[in-house]
Amino acid sequence: RIAGPSGLVIFGVTGDLSRKKLMPAVYDLANRGLLPPGFSLVGFARRDWESEDFAQVVHDAVKEHARTPFREEVWQQLAEGFRFVPGEFDDDDAFETLRATINDLDKARGTGGNFAFYLSVPPKFFPKVVAQLKKHGLSEGPGDSWRRAVIEKPFGHDLASAQELNRVVHEVFQPSDVFRIDHYLGKETVQNILALRFANTMFEPIWNRSYVDHVQITMAEDIGIGGRAGYYDGIGAARDVIQNHLLQLLALTAMEEPGSFHPKALVAEKLKVLSAVELPEDLGRHTVRGQYVRAWQGGQEVPGYLEEEGIDPKSRTDTYAAIKLTINNRRWAGVPFYLRTGKRLGRRVTEIAVVFKRAPFLPFESQATEDLGQNALVIRVQPDEGVTVRFGSKVPGTSMEVRDVTMDFAYGESFTESSPEAYERLLLDVLLGDANLFPRHQEVELSWNILDPIEEYWEKNGTPAQYPAGTWGPAEADEMLARDGRSWRRP
Ligand code: BG6
Repeated sequence: RIAGPSGLVIFGVTGDLSRKKLMPAVYDLANRGLLPPGFSLVGFARRDWESEDFAQVVHDAVKEHARTPFREEVWQQLAEGFRFVPGEFDDDDAFETLRATINDLDKARGTGGNFAFYLSVPPKFFPKVVAQLKKHGLSEGPGDSWRRAVIEKPFGHDLASAQELNRVVHEVFQPSDVFRIDHYLGKETVQNILALRFANTMFEPIWNRSYVDHVQITMAEDIGIGGRAGYYDGIGAARDVIQNHLLQLLALTAMEEPGSFHPKALVAEKLKVLSAVELPEDLGRHTVRGQYVRAWQGGQEVPGYLEEEGIDPKSRTDTYAAIKLTINNRRWAGVPFYLRTGKRLGRRVTEIAVVFKRAPFLPFESQATEDLGQNALVIRVQPDEGVTVRFGSKVPGTSMEVRDVTMDFAYGESFTESSPEAYERLLLDVLLGDANLFPRHQEVELSWNILDPIEEYWEKNGTPAQYPAGTWGPAEADEMLARDGRSWRRP
């Protein structure tokens, strides 16, 4: 799969995402031979830069963050297609310059009129940028060339704002030309959920309420909010990652088998399962939000959330969120899905644990199985990518004693191939027009529909529970599971 003649325009090219992810991804794709020889990259931002300054910034970003080794000849060829357009989003002249630049590139580099516009800008600018693209004739290319819009999260901050955003974007671009980024879908291990479930026979027969006791989806981060106060405060953990990444993980874990890997078939199944998600009646008992407070983490004292630079000292923003959901269908009725995420937790780990019911009868003496837990299948999304199966096994010795053991699949041991970075995969798919790994607008809206009542409940009730940085979240989250007779895994 190699992209055809094309180019990429990045709005907000001076931002962190662009430097850390997009620029290195473009270089890595070129280095792996997956971009066409005349591929072109246009940066648009409010900076007084020449194209050479822009090239220098990309160069530094590539040197620092690219996955693949730096090769001068690849760089030279790529850099010849770099252009920079300075301007504000409401500056008509700048958009005219952009149009001329794209036309020149078509002639000079053979980009064929095919351009993707990457909106790496805060959502409040989306309407303006897409309106400008339309006004200046950029949203449609010449002949049968394509123009696509790539939109970064957050897609709104609730259902109403997401619907409005979708409306505005769809006024300019066909829904099939809009690619919404959820970078979790670009991760190898996330794509492997469907392979694990649907390429094998041994998991699917037990992947249901008859055998599964509950599912835990954890996305833990050890970092705080770093320099992102402006974005994070008022948004919080649930809007930042549950609405998108974690609900996508839930959808992939719980959906039915699609008839094919065609985007329409996949989306149809994801929509069905997201529509079947139900919130618990008592949100006070089955959701928890928290905020980290100053503590020692990994031998270093770190500030609490309210002490971070740029954070309102009275902020009630959640840096931790745990929620319980159920799925009303034949496969999952009555099986809780517990989702949790947080900043400044014990360590960085994302995993999906499918925890099975206990054996209905144990033909052993009771002491023999004292240490036996529940069987579990754990999809280790990151780091240590792989899959673990936990089951009971006889402890070697002269008496019968059963204890938990694990069976592991690790990517590093089983494959010599390396995983592309999520953004690499997603950028390539945009250029190829492959929509499989991009949430459709209905998915985004359904996800907000799930989260909105929780956010409203939190807004009206109380304040976040506190947890010391470096721990596994507030005690309230443990109590939430204990009330159901369960406990969180320690990944
Ligand atoms: C982003 C969130 O979507 O995902 C960040 O906005 C979070 O808050 C990041 O840190 C985590 O991504 P990853 O790939 O490092 O797990």
